[in-house]
Amino acid sequence: MSEAAELAGDAPLLEGRDLKRHYRVGRGAFRGTALVRALDGVSFRVHERQTLAVVGESGCGKSTLARLITMIEPPTAGTLHLTGLDLATITKDQKRPARRAVQMIFQNPFGSLNPRKKIGTIIAEPLLINAKLTPAERDERVRWMMAKVGLRPEHHDRYPHMFSGGQRQRVAIARALILRPKVVVCDEPVSALDVSIQAQVLNLLLELQDEFGLAYVFISHDLSVVRHIADEVMVMYLGRAVEQGTRDEIFGGHQHPYTRALLASTPHLDPASRRERIVLTGELPSPLDPPAGCAFHTRCPYAVDLCQQQRPELSPKSGHLSVACHRADELVAEFR
Ligand SMILES: Nc1ncnc2c1ncn2[C@@H]1O[C@H](COP(=O)(O)OP(=O)(O)O)[C@@H](O)[C@H]1O
Ligand code: SF4
Ligand SMILES: [Mg+2]
Repeated sequence: MSEAAELAGDAPLLEGRDLKRHYRVGRGAFRGTALVRALDGVSFRVHERQTLAVVGESGCGKSTLARLITMIEPPTAGTLHLTGLDLATITKDQKRPARRAVQMIFQNPFGSLNPRKKIGTIIAEPLLINAKLTPAERDERVRWMMAKVGLRPEHHDRYPHMFSGGQRQRVAIARALILRPKVVVCDEPVSALDVSIQAQVLNLLLELQDEFGLAYVFISHDLSVVRHIADEVMVMYLGRAVEQGTRDEIFGGHQHPYTRALLASTPHLDPASRRERIVLTGELPSPLDPPAGCAFHTRCPYAVDLCQQQRPELSPKSGHLSVACHRADELVAEFR
């Protein structure tokens, strides 16, 4: 689909170019400060009705990216364009619709809903600030959206604690969609849910994408979760993309050892791709003091001397695949 969009010359809905977000943190008394490169140069495009999955272990910068896309924080460097507008230079008048157009669903369905407010009030809240509706119109819109996400009318006056995790995520989805955004950033939206409930919420997100023409940036630490919903996948390691491509390229033709390792660590896979497992050993290095050269070299079974000295740049391969690995071309055969 994205190929068709590109052939047609369609501009992306959302485009990030070389986005960075650095934080200065204290190292403790007498040791001064240090720079955490939480996000250190990622580029991506998201088209209408498409899902970009962002995958990597905890700590690799996914939520930081989510905060930039949702304009909670500005980038340290790089640009973000929404419908062609540079978000750093838009006027005040353009800012409000831009913020409305990008909404977020968080991982924790328990922490993200105010326990003292009724479901109907929680879902209506964005409308109070952003839309000029009468109370009756507002309530009608809320009830309509509740039905769209599979909540029953009687849920309207209940409190969050009366709901299961899956139902709370439906409330969070209704709240995120009530302003009819174009882009929804889903930050680990099913990670806190039981596996049996995960599929229901993922299916709901797919249905809503179809109905409302939404673009998703779908964040997950688990590659298997994005298999059925992603159009494009960006695999991240320590603030950078190490591999990017279409869903089929990543699941069927990846070339980066880290992608290989993430795939091997997920349980439900084709037996064929389990042949040589790379087991991820050791901890993710600290982004305060990332390894020189290829940041993955401390855990990579294919590392050679060059990997410790020189950082591999993300470079285009066949199709839409880009890979940041010195040995990608050699490893293609090994990974098939
Ligand atoms: N506000 C902040 N100040 C300092 N460090 C931060 C801040 N936010 C995130 N980090 C650090 O940036 C790195 C990436 O964090 P995050 O984006 O939350 O990763 P993920 O969502 O992939 O788990 C982590 O090492 C985290 O500790
Ligand atoms: S550049 Fe070297 S260390 Fe990095 S992923 Fe490739 S082989 Fe492994
Ligand atoms: Mg996170």
